[in-house]
Amino acid sequence: MRVLSGIQPSGSLHLGNYFGMMKRMVEYQENNELFCFLVNYHALTSVFDAELLRRQTFEAACDFLALGLDPEKSVFWVQSDVQEVTELTWLLSNVTGMGLLERSHSYKDKTAKGIPASHGLFAYPVLMAADILLYGAEKVPVGKDQKQHLEIARDIAIRFNNTYGETFVVPEPDIEESVATVPGIDGQKMSKSYGNAIEIFAGEKEMREKVMKIKTDSTPVDQPKPVEGNVLYELYSLFLDEKEREKLKERFLTPGLKYGEVKKELFGVIWEYFAPYRKERERLVKDRQYVVDTLREGARKARQVAAVYLERARRNVGLDYWN
Ligand code: TYM
Repeated sequence: MRVLSGIQPSGSLHLGNYFGMMKRMVEYQENNELFCFLVNYHALTSVFDAELLRRQTFEAACDFLALGLDPEKSVFWVQSDVQEVTELTWLLSNVTGMGLLERSHSYKDKTAKGIPASHGLFAYPVLMAADILLYGAEKVPVGKDQKQHLEIARDIAIRFNNTYGETFVVPEPDIEESVATVPGIDGQKMSKSYGNAIEIFAGEKEMREKVMKIKTDSTPVDQPKPVEGNVLYELYSLFLDEKEREKLKERFLTPGLKYGEVKKELFGVIWEYFAPYRKERERLVKDRQYVVDTLREGARKARQVAAVYLERARRNVGLDYWN
């Protein structure tokens, strides 16, 4: 199965990114053809500082490699190193109805949060469809916030195939219910831009502060605590297997549990969980040449696949006037 997904290098990666997508991608590389990339063209819709984009792209690459993405088992690259994707975006644009884009939640959410309402932001889903269709992806692991984008990509693929003949694979979203929307410390969806994210490679002090700020209810200590909709319980559960989760549930339901103590404990769990990755990341950050070479080699492999799909699309729409 060809599995593909991408992430924007537009800020530090957090628990939502990790459980919603990155961890699952690393698992998929074992038995699938995995395509994973850093979508810096997409990040241009909200990052207007060149040096910041450069730095964040490099850091996101270190993050992914440190978390276990193996460039030998997968294809890992930076979106803009395969420029073909911008050409495909144009070809797809002409079978993308305005209405489809006008209904995009993410466009509305982002502009409401102050991101400039540019054409790039509006056309964002078309570039994302190109990302997916250019590589013949069958399955796309994402969090729930990307569900509509995947529906748009499917619509575009179907429309293109109907108009010009069979050209693209119609991709399936892969959303894992238990981690579809990881909550932030305030209970809203965890997001880079909401200030509610627990960043996986944050410093110790910063991470502890974030964990201690997890919003809890005011149930008195001597009463059972709810688990449903309890952000502390939900975040802790991410690190537990089913048996351990049952135990945690029992602890919450037993009077006497102190939220403050559970938070301290959770900080320890998160800190320890990422400790080996943190170490590997520190090593990678210092080995710039290795990281850059790895990405370049990934782009070379990605381009081989992209060339086939782009050529087919160019031919099917009639750009091959010489024939
Ligand atoms: P991005 O960079 O916002 O997020 C990367 C991935 O993390 C998931 N995610 C979450 N999952 C669960 N709970 C959360 N709180 C949470 N927050 C983020 C996202 O759903 C995503 O899977 N448009 C995409 C990037 C993209 C892409 C693609 C993805 C561009 N082209 C092609 C797949 C295929 C984005 O902005 O993700």
